[in-house]
Amino acid sequence: MAAGRDNRDPERLQQRPRRKSLPRLLSEARAQGHKLAMISLYDAPTAALCCEAGLDLILVGDSMGNAMLGYENTLPVTMEDILRHTGAVARGVRGSSRPEVPVIADLPFGSYATLERATENGAALIRAGAQAVKLEGSDRAALEGIRAITGMGVPVVGHLGFTPQSSLSFGSIVQGRTAEAASRMLEEAKSVEEAGCCAVVLEAVPAEVARRITEELSISTIGIGAGPGCDVQVLVWHDLVGLSDGPSLRFVKQYADAAALMQRAVESYVGEVRSGEFPGPEHGWELGEEELRRWEDARG
Ligand code: KIV
Repeated sequence: MAAGRDNRDPERLQQRPRRKSLPRLLSEARAQGHKLAMISLYDAPTAALCCEAGLDLILVGDSMGNAMLGYENTLPVTMEDILRHTGAVARGVRGSSRPEVPVIADLPFGSYATLERATENGAALIRAGAQAVKLEGSDRAALEGIRAITGMGVPVVGHLGFTPQSSLSFGSIVQGRTAEAASRMLEEAKSVEEAGCCAVVLEAVPAEVARRITEELSISTIGIGAGPGCDVQVLVWHDLVGLSDGPSLRFVKQYADAAALMQRAVESYVGEVRSGEFPGPEHGWELGEEELRRWEDARG
């Protein structure tokens, strides 16, 4: 553990800012017109790095299916996947200098199809280290799930517009592109707010529609491909740093080319192994002349 980051240090424990609940953090930021930045990410070192860089909110998204697990979409992602990575991210946040950063965990496909599953799985994600959960849609199962989970005292974030868990039934990515579809989306947003959500993700939605929804709701909107009018913006880590394969979607802004940097590092490593340059004496230990002699004598 890096110096100064021991989270058992009693002095450090006393200095820690108290963690605000997610609904409070969101409503205060919204009231002050203070935009928040969120990233969907999946492991401890990345979580710690993002906390040190000033990130406001972390999502452990089921986008891990495409971004990290090599699946074509989010549908194969399981509760076990999200639980393991939520634990890792929560440990990364706790070990950083900003342990108060909230972690929201996605309920994966099928995990909130019944009330019993929704409450059991919501509770499991909180036990794994999340402060809130996210689920997609506004059909009856989703609304009942939101009510039941918030009824246990767990904040819930909704997700409308393009909802990847329903991608098999979508014709195109951008949603809400006609006046009728925009009105429907506004009604859906009101229904998830009414069911108890503390925020709602709007994915791939025309900017005017997202802005209007943001104005009409009293909870925060979290935009991805939804224009600048949302209260919070979210991007997927692998897209943001240039680690995703395949063409990126229009709403992705790539802030670094980590893939090129990492490929160069691996090429150098492979080259140095082949040439014998790595490992050098500084990367290991010597037995020493005397012990070497004794060993050789013992072997006869
Ligand atoms: O799974 C995810 O990362 C998400 C965000 C893109 C909002 O749902």
